[in-house]
Amino acid sequence: MGFRSITQAKIQLWGLALCCAIVGATNSTISASELDEAIIDVFKRNKCDACHVPVAQRAKDSQTGKLLYPAHREFSYVLNLTKLRSSKFVAPGAPQNSSLYKLIIEEKMPEGAEFCFDPSCPYPPVPESDRIIVEQWINSLN
Ligand code: HEC
Repeated sequence: MGFRSITQAKIQLWGLALCCAIVGATNSTISASELDEAIIDVFKRNKCDACHVPVAQRAKDSQTGKLLYPAHREFSYVLNLTKLRSSKFVAPGAPQNSSLYKLIIEEKMPEGAEFCFDPSCPYPPVPESDRIIVEQWINSLN
């Protein structure tokens, strides 16, 4: 016991701290594939995929079989990131110039969000935490 083991314990503690610092630093940089996963989750969480997917996959009334949300005909690929990235709705590296981002910020998308004053409405505005992910994703593109 004594001096030696205390020094050893200190060295071990420093090793542990250094190790945690490295792990922490690695975690704080989000990789491109993690961002891709995160943005898909944002689109699903905010139900963009009820309307902006191919007609066959859109939500339908179980009684009539008719589309519940007859959405925009052209924009049917919100979950296809390869296509979305190079679409006119996204300006790579520039969220403020991307209609996809602007419509979310202005609460025009999801459709009806701007008229949603009751938490039970089907398409509430996209929350701040998700807006940040959209911004980061567009910023990461170039
Ligand atoms: C309930 C159906 C519905 C939902 C949910 C919805 N949209 Fe839309 N979206 C529409 C319709 C309908 C239009 C066309 C509106 C128009 O032209 O006035 C549109 C238009 C758009 C456009 C512009 C297309 C263009 O040609 O300029 C973008 C971008 C968009 N939506 C993104 C989103 C995103 C992102 C979400 C999720 C946060 C979302 N939408 C959720 C129905 C929906």
